[in-house]
Amino acid sequence: MTRRDRVLSGMQASGKLHLGNFIGALQNWVRLQEKYDCFYFIADWHALTTGYANPSALKESTEDILINFLAAGLDPDKCTIFLQSKILQHAELHLLLSMITPLGWLERVPTYKEQQQELKDRDLSTYGFLGYPLLQTADIIIYRAKYVPVGVDQVPHLEISREIARRFNNLYKEVFPEPEALLTEFPKVPGIDGRKMSKSYGNAIYLSDSPKVAEQKILTMMTDPARKRRTDKGSPELSPVFQLHRIFSTKEEQNEVAEGCRTAGIGCIECKKILIKNIFRVLEPIWQKRSELIANPKLVIEVAEKGTDKAKKVAEETMRVVRDAMGLR
Ligand code: TRP
Repeated sequence: MTRRDRVLSGMQASGKLHLGNFIGALQNWVRLQEKYDCFYFIADWHALTTGYANPSALKESTEDILINFLAAGLDPDKCTIFLQSKILQHAELHLLLSMITPLGWLERVPTYKEQQQELKDRDLSTYGFLGYPLLQTADIIIYRAKYVPVGVDQVPHLEISREIARRFNNLYKEVFPEPEALLTEFPKVPGIDGRKMSKSYGNAIYLSDSPKVAEQKILTMMTDPARKRRTDKGSPELSPVFQLHRIFSTKEEQNEVAEGCRTAGIGCIECKKILIKNIFRVLEPIWQKRSELIANPKLVIEVAEKGTDKAKKVAEETMRVVRDAMGLR
């Protein structure tokens, strides 16, 4: 058997997982485990770079993500699932890489200033926050990963990871392959207010929502604002509900609701009921698996421990080479 290429990705533990995370990342991760040697982890240290003042949220988020990883179909027999903070080697590599990382590289990562602007209520003029992409680099290259499935927003982080890997290889020894972003085009998932689904906008449908809550959220979802009465004609292009149909409904259903919207032949509630049926088809197996896992927390912990052991072995192996290359011991 030829060795499969390694894929690695992480999910920051800064909230519960929602439908947007599932469509945009997790579903793809599930597919990749069939073809690659996949390492998937929960980035709990990264969550502290912006959430250091509220650590209690971290535990809840970590548990939710771990359960959802499994409920969504990540299979511990096919991929390695672990928690970042359990592999101290990431921190060691982060420190050693910090010796060779020019400040300017970190300062010019666009997310650095953007996030500081966006999260004005938090003090993000910290050492840890500046180092975010460097910690991410350590996460990736410590496993000598070849591919990193991420959204386009993460491309600058991947770019710096490649630069740092190259710098290390030039200064000391060829140790790290340059990781590549594995970009797959995913439809943008709108939240119930029409903006991008995000935990910080309060517009998300969470994988942990009960069917009742999920249904209620979709029923109160924004539609074409110009269509106020049942008899008004609408424009499906202006309705976030239709954008969700594009993701979850069949072509025929999409045509049917679009036509019905334009001619006022169908009401918004009726249109949403079709969407609910289709979203539930995706969520129901996840809900089912979630309740099994929640009833069996030991199993979930075992998965994480097994994954952590495996990841630690790989990380430690890399660190032996790194320490040696940098003149330690
Ligand atoms: N920064 C990533 C995000 O916000 C999370 C992350 C941390 C990550 N370390 C990583 C992703 C390593 C890929 C590889 O989505």
